Amino acid sequence: MSTSDSRPDAAVALNEVRKRYGTVQALDGVSLTVERGEFFGILGPNGAGKTTLVEIVEGLRTPDSGTVSVLGESPWPRNTPLLRRLGIQTQSSAFFTRLTAREHLETVAALYRLERPAATRALDLVDLGEQAGQRVDQLSGGQRQRLALATALIHDPELIFLDEPTAALDPAARRSLWEVLRTLKGDGRTIVYTTHHLDEAEALCDRVAIVARGTVLAVDSPRHLIKSLAAPTRLRVPAYRLGVEDVRGLPGVESAAVEGGELVISTHTANQVLLALGELVDLEEITTRTATLEDAYLELTATERRS
Ligand SMILES: Nc1ncnc2c1ncn2[C@@H]1O[C@H](COP(=O)(O)OP(=O)(O)O)[C@@H](O)[C@H]1O
Ligand SMILES: [Mg+2]
Repeated sequence: MSTSDSRPDAAVALNEVRKRYGTVQALDGVSLTVERGEFFGILGPNGAGKTTLVEIVEGLRTPDSGTVSVLGESPWPRNTPLLRRLGIQTQSSAFFTRLTAREHLETVAALYRLERPAATRALDLVDLGEQAGQRVDQLSGGQRQRLALATALIHDPELIFLDEPTAALDPAARRSLWEVLRTLKGDGRTIVYTTHHLDEAEALCDRVAIVARGTVLAVDSPRHLIKSLAAPTRLRVPAYRLGVEDVRGLPGVESAAVEGGELVISTHTANQVLLALGELVDLEEITTRTATLEDAYLELTATERRS
């Protein structure tokens, strides 16, 4: 990692970045690299330092020490040409609320000295064409979130930062934003984003960094993280069919407990356990859930939560 600051080909390279607010060490030596064209997720509990990390990379804050390179340049002192190449959606987006969606975007376009069609392009990109004439303060939460994204994208940036873009969305709105993000990634843009939705990170991200207390606990593809942590598969059977005592001794069963009316069995050899369970119950009564990024995340951050 020591050479991460000399990687002009990377989209983002941080080396030993530290930031302290008073007594809080928000970032405690963070090194990581985001490749161009990557969809990169930053995951971690509240207060982990995600926003601080993203805002330092965006040039909105300066670190106490360490180096940061963004598209081969330093984001500070304030680097206006670099800013033009970045699309930034912060955790609290500001709008011209009394304008319509289109007027809002035209105003932003004017600030960037862009031609008017930029507003239409941005509206289409986030699939907000039908709401173009609606006032911003009358848009739904999901529509506002998409407008915030359009605002961050209007100047056609190469590198996009999104801080919890799907935090307040209902499941359908979240899915529709996923499609927008996938399109952006398909266009060859680099996306760096934070989220608490681990299913979403698993579905969208090429790689994720898991941070806690200002340090990076792991960086890898969701698939590798799940595999390397060897989280167990969980088999569920209605608790009225089988009890803990019925399965505890079966080969391959690592643990068994009743949760919410179901017997939950953890195993790393699901086939073996399924065969044994097949002798006791109808296989259709068993639900199988293989390990997910959420399991890996919970395991990695378990020590943090206990301490
Ligand atoms: N401007 C600030 N002044 C003082 N403390 C801050 C400031 N911003 C963040 N912090 C603290 O730094 C830590 C990391 O915060 P943050 O980067 O917002 O984490 P996250 O986005 O992962 O929730 C937290 O303990 C938070 O309270
Ligand atoms: Mg945050």
